[in-house]
Amino acid sequence: MPEVRRVGVLGCGLMGSGIAEIAAKAGLETWVREVNDQLSEKGKASITKSLDKAVEKGKLESSARESALGQLKFTTSLEDLKDCDIIIEAVTEDLALKNEMFKTLDAVCPPHTIFASNTSSLTVADMAAATGRPDRVLGLHFFNPVPVMKLVEVVRTIATSDDAYQTAFDFARKIGKEPVEAKDTSGFIVNRLLVPYMLDAIRCLEQGLASIEDIDKSMQLGTGYPMGPFVLSDFVGIDTLYRISEIMFDEFREPRFAPPPLLKRMVTMGYFGRKSKRGFYDYSGAQPAVMNLGI
Ligand code: 3HC
Repeated sequence: MPEVRRVGVLGCGLMGSGIAEIAAKAGLETWVREVNDQLSEKGKASITKSLDKAVEKGKLESSARESALGQLKFTTSLEDLKDCDIIIEAVTEDLALKNEMFKTLDAVCPPHTIFASNTSSLTVADMAAATGRPDRVLGLHFFNPVPVMKLVEVVRTIATSDDAYQTAFDFARKIGKEPVEAKDTSGFIVNRLLVPYMLDAIRCLEQGLASIEDIDKSMQLGTGYPMGPFVLSDFVGIDTLYRISEIMFDEFREPRFAPPPLLKRMVTMGYFGRKSKRGFYDYSGAQPAVMNLGI
């Protein structure tokens, strides 16, 4: 397997834009595929903003900003990713959608191309089985915000070849991340532990243990977590947390992964957290204010 030189990223939302940014910063030609020009432009603007911030803070030379931007190619065509050595999907947690994209790419990419998924809770084998190259399909799970969080879980399915796995592991290091090896069970390492914790915080709230602010304050000041569980849930996205918990509950059938009723109601109301300006906190003012959720 040749070294990874050309990277493909499917989806340029929160995670995809971060992945594309760090791959381009590492000097790799990076092809980013979005479904339409509007989303492409939005993704490009968010990467540019992040690079600009890094320059402002003195963390990145402006010449490095220029060369990173020069490495980025935006497209709406999957076929344009045909020469990539590794393609990382970071689209919605919808197995059918991911499989459809991988099937199309399977037909145009050379046999050595690795297909990686940034899924947070689906099992990678379900994607591998839909391609004609299950030995070259694996998980690369990044964390939000991608440019800041050092970890990448490199997920091996029961069919991943040693060669593809080692190439992906080395690639994660090349783009400045610290890889860990994880097996292909829903949630891998981090979400297996983090998701029940966030869900438990919601259950504590539902049961009247303490207020949103005091639960957040307790975990932040009592254990040194950078964010309390409700600030973190809003940061991850209430809809995302809900979807992950449904998938994990489906996999393990254990109550600790089941979404609490309050989480469901918040999704119904469109309280998706920071991205919709409302979640456990209201982000429409100068400072976040606790939402009145009727509890
Ligand atoms: N892009 C680039 N850099 C960013 C950034 C972003 N989106 N957000 C913050 N930063 C940088 C800042 O520039 C700053 O850099 P500096 O120290 O060099 O100046 C540094 O991160 C710290 O940021 P701030 O001072 O603005 O704020 P905080 O000190 O509160 O840190 C945080 C922000 C890094 C997000 C921190 O609160 C944190 O680590 N929170 C926990 C995040 C977490 O748990 N992520 C994992 C979520 S789970 C997940 O992603 C898995 C998925 O499957 C659900």
